[in-house]
Amino acid sequence: MLRVEDLDTPAVIIFLDRLETNIERVQRLIARQGIGNRPHIKTHKIPAIGRMQIEAGAVGLTCQKLGELEVFIDANVCDDYLLSYNILGARKTDRLMQLASRVKRLAVVADNDVVLRGLSEAGLRHSRDIPLLIECDTGFGRNGVQSPEAALDLARLALKLPRIVFEGLMVFPNSAPNTHEFFSRSLKLFREAGIALPILSGGGTPALNRLAEFSMMTEHRAGTYVYNDVMMVHSGVASWQDCALQVRATVVSRPTAGRAVLDCGSKVLTSDQYYVQHYGRLAHYPGAVISGLSEEHAIVDLTNAPKRPKVGEVVEVIPNHCCSVSNMTDEVHGVRNGVVELTWPVAARGKVR
Ligand SMILES: Cc1ncc(COP(=O)(O)O)c(C=O)c1O
Repeated sequence: MLRVEDLDTPAVIIFLDRLETNIERVQRLIARQGIGNRPHIKTHKIPAIGRMQIEAGAVGLTCQKLGELEVFIDANVCDDYLLSYNILGARKTDRLMQLASRVKRLAVVADNDVVLRGLSEAGLRHSRDIPLLIECDTGFGRNGVQSPEAALDLARLALKLPRIVFEGLMVFPNSAPNTHEFFSRSLKLFREAGIALPILSGGGTPALNRLAEFSMMTEHRAGTYVYNDVMMVHSGVASWQDCALQVRATVVSRPTAGRAVLDCGSKVLTSDQYYVQHYGRLAHYPGAVISGLSEEHAIVDLTNAPKRPKVGEVVEVIPNHCCSVSNMTDEVHGVRNGVVELTWPVAARGKVR
């Protein structure tokens, strides 16, 4: 029997009780809204966890990259996927079509006519219809058409192009400032144009507490909720006790009274900060924050920590952004009551194409 203390560091562990609770809780929350739960696999990248989400009641899964889809379809996790990324070029659209032939439904997004025309040509080459959502930018400032009018224009093109089956709109994240207004206006505009919008796909873990505000959505894609992290606690959607992924790391140095150094640098924790300060927290040392990272060193600022770890001690870090930690590690260890119950390879890590 392997105990958690037996793992060499740095090691990424998953508290299985928390993982299971997070999956069930969010499934219930989304089902209570009467909409579909379509989790994004980007947080865990592990087919076994995708299977747990489907078994809990998810209608399907979301992937960001073709390589992730390949891993999940090879593992036979489910037969209904959304690929929430513009797919460009025959090399990629041919892969998309191959994958579509292996599942019941594979929908994809587009936010411009070049992507749309490329998908239509791929559909013609492979004699296959492609379910399509138009991605909308409602204030996040990433991909997406910029207005409901632009969504309608692109939808009109989608309806004309062969092999494209226009199904609706998609946004990330719901919590972007203009989502409600954008989608309300789109509903009106499309209704007036006589174009049906069977799917409105919303997303993001921080919006889970506000699902009722987005009653027009037909499905929700959350990802981070399976593990949670400092960002999710900061956004009020999770507590520290909901953080299922933690990094076990050894204190390798205590150069000053106010500083500790851990053996998990940016190669493990990543330097993502987004809207929170620092790079992570020490789970059992209140006030201890990771204030700097180099590749193999995490610098812990202990100034505000009444209790301080010693050299050689193993500590548990709650990262700022758990999704990018998944991407950095070959495997994660599932832990229950101090025992390592299983080790999952992170099969879809590093799938950037
Ligand atoms: C398109 C899309 N949908 C859903 C999600 C899941 O969001 P979250 O990780 O906030 O739950 C993401 C996350 O990056 C995303 O990019």
